[in-house]
Amino acid sequence: MAPFLPYGRQTIEDDDIHAVATALRSDFLTTGPAVEAFETAFAKAVDAPYAVACNGGTAALHMAMMSIGTGPGDVCIVPSITFVATANAARFCGAEVMFADVDPKTGLMTEAGLMDAVGKVAGRGRLKAILPVHLAGKMVDMTPVNSLAGACNAHVIADSCHALGSTVNGRSPAQDAEMACYSFHPVKTMTTGEGGMVTAQDAGAAERLKMFRSHGIIRSPHDTAHYDMVELGYNYRIPDILCALGLSQLGKLPRFVERRRAIAALYDAALPGLSPVLQTCPNGAGDPALHLYTVQIDFAALGRERKAVMDDLRALGIGTQVHYIPVHLQPYYAARYGVERLPGAETWHERTLSLPIFPGMADSDVGRVAEALSMVLGS
Ligand SMILES: Cc1ncc(COP(=O)(O)O)c(C=O)c1O
Repeated sequence: MAPFLPYGRQTIEDDDIHAVATALRSDFLTTGPAVEAFETAFAKAVDAPYAVACNGGTAALHMAMMSIGTGPGDVCIVPSITFVATANAARFCGAEVMFADVDPKTGLMTEAGLMDAVGKVAGRGRLKAILPVHLAGKMVDMTPVNSLAGACNAHVIADSCHALGSTVNGRSPAQDAEMACYSFHPVKTMTTGEGGMVTAQDAGAAERLKMFRSHGIIRSPHDTAHYDMVELGYNYRIPDILCALGLSQLGKLPRFVERRRAIAALYDAALPGLSPVLQTCPNGAGDPALHLYTVQIDFAALGRERKAVMDDLRALGIGTQVHYIPVHLQPYYAARYGVERLPGAETWHERTLSLPIFPGMADSDVGRVAEALSMVLGS
């Protein structure tokens, strides 16, 4: 039988391994020159003035939230369809979350969902930040987000963990947000194993991010023995070993993204035959990097539970996943705020399924997935 196809997988090549081995033999395993080299190359790749590396996308979000001074009494708007870490970053700082609804066909936060959430903020505190999420690498329309944030004097921190390599009108998510947070988890468009990055628009913001990355400490440029801890920071540093891998992977990003788009185009051509039970999802504006390839399946019309469909696909060697369970329905948030109704998020969740997509897939793997879906869905 053909090997199991996971929904996502890293691509590690010999030169990546060589880059890591070189870092391991160097003088610095952490806090060395590879960190800055990775930050500089990353900032250039996403057209951001500054980039600060850290040890995960969750750390990136937390550092960004701390750097803008988020605290108790603040409210952050987060779309309900995202990984829990987006909302949790606000809670780490003692702020409250207001969940926004999404487009049931794309999972992306809508202008109406955002306006609705803004209207409800006052009951929970004062609006501090909006955290748009570029789900699957598809881009949220940032024009209304930025203009609303401007009108409300709120910050915009983009969760771009899925969107490294995505552009709209040639612009990356880092160019249209005060800060953009990235993850280098193995299923993302490139990997450092675990790792993250925050982009910033000015040197002061980058310095604050670095300070929160390392215990809230500022070191004296004149006295190597002196340091001041001025804020409560964390150890969110990323080792040089991982930055060496990141630098090597970053050079391959255009190839990885191109391959993802090619696989998605093959799916787009192969899957419409399975409609009306299965629908492909629109890409939205620009050129998404397609971290995920999601389809919508009408499980109610099919008369089968999603879990049974996923189990059958697994038995045929096809891995799938669900991105995501609406965060407002997670027990922690439901207990904190009560169960709100966000119909777009709930409809998205009822129907979504993420199919395998990663650069190492062969064209014939797409055919395998389409065939397995056809068998399981009986179409
Ligand atoms: C949308 C989103 N936000 C945040 C994160 C957190 O990133 P990490 O796993 O690198 O901490 C992830 C990663 O799974 C994610 O997909």
